Amino acid sequence: MQIYVIDDREELGRKAADVIEEGLAADTKAGRSPILGLATGSSPEPLYAELRKRHAAGKLDFSELEAFALDQYVGIDPDHPESYRNVLLREVVNNDATGLKAENMYTLNESATDLEAECARYDAEILGRGGVSIQILGIGSDGHIAFNEPYGSLRSHTHIGALTRQTREDNSRFFDNDIDKVPTHCMTQGLATIMSAKQILLIATGKKKGPAIAALAAGPVTSACPASVLQFHEKVTLLIDQPAAQKLPRDILMHL
Ligand code: GLP
Repeated sequence: MQIYVIDDREELGRKAADVIEEGLAADTKAGRSPILGLATGSSPEPLYAELRKRHAAGKLDFSELEAFALDQYVGIDPDHPESYRNVLLREVVNNDATGLKAENMYTLNESATDLEAECARYDAEILGRGGVSIQILGIGSDGHIAFNEPYGSLRSHTHIGALTRQTREDNSRFFDNDIDKVPTHCMTQGLATIMSAKQILLIATGKKKGPAIAALAAGPVTSACPASVLQFHEKVTLLIDQPAAQKLPRDILMHL
């Protein structure tokens, strides 16, 4: 696991964009079509801002790229601004943001009549392509990645899940600070699906993420912290700031 501690938001965005470009290029070099794994939440925002900047400057073009999103709320109106498809359209697609085309950005369909079949179809699409080239991740304050909440299977595939009260509280800021407006269920790539990515970039900032980052990088591998399964992945980059790094053991920090 490579850990970088970067406090400046723009610098963190530039480092993240470099890691993404290298990850995509590695697959191109190996003769495979690169696929980007997209995440929502506030954590990847500096990265998306930098990707848009590079595209506007003619330095990056995702027009040939395919991308898969991590997760989606169940029971959300497809037109709701916080539907993760709409979030990602705003961040990386609309107004030629990065060149990525809407038809090349795959998201779980929350309106499918059979949600379980939709999860299975989505999972097979990703695994059938041999996993994404590089997966962007944030982390929940309870250690969840995508919407894989604590105490689920560490080998799960794309599935329907229930959100914890903690996650609904954390995400209520996107729903008028009203927890009752936050959906109770989700569809999410499972941990086995995420682990099929050839490379992983996890971004976390702020003190609130400190305990989850310590459990992810230095705790036991346990379903109590779903992100800890990343210790079994051979190519993970963590991009965090000082407040998020605060709970890491001293001996890890000394090696940074
Ligand atoms: C949501 C998303 C996760 C994300 C997490 C943290 O629950 N499903 O993919 O990592 O929030 O979000 P933030 O980066 O806004 O703290």
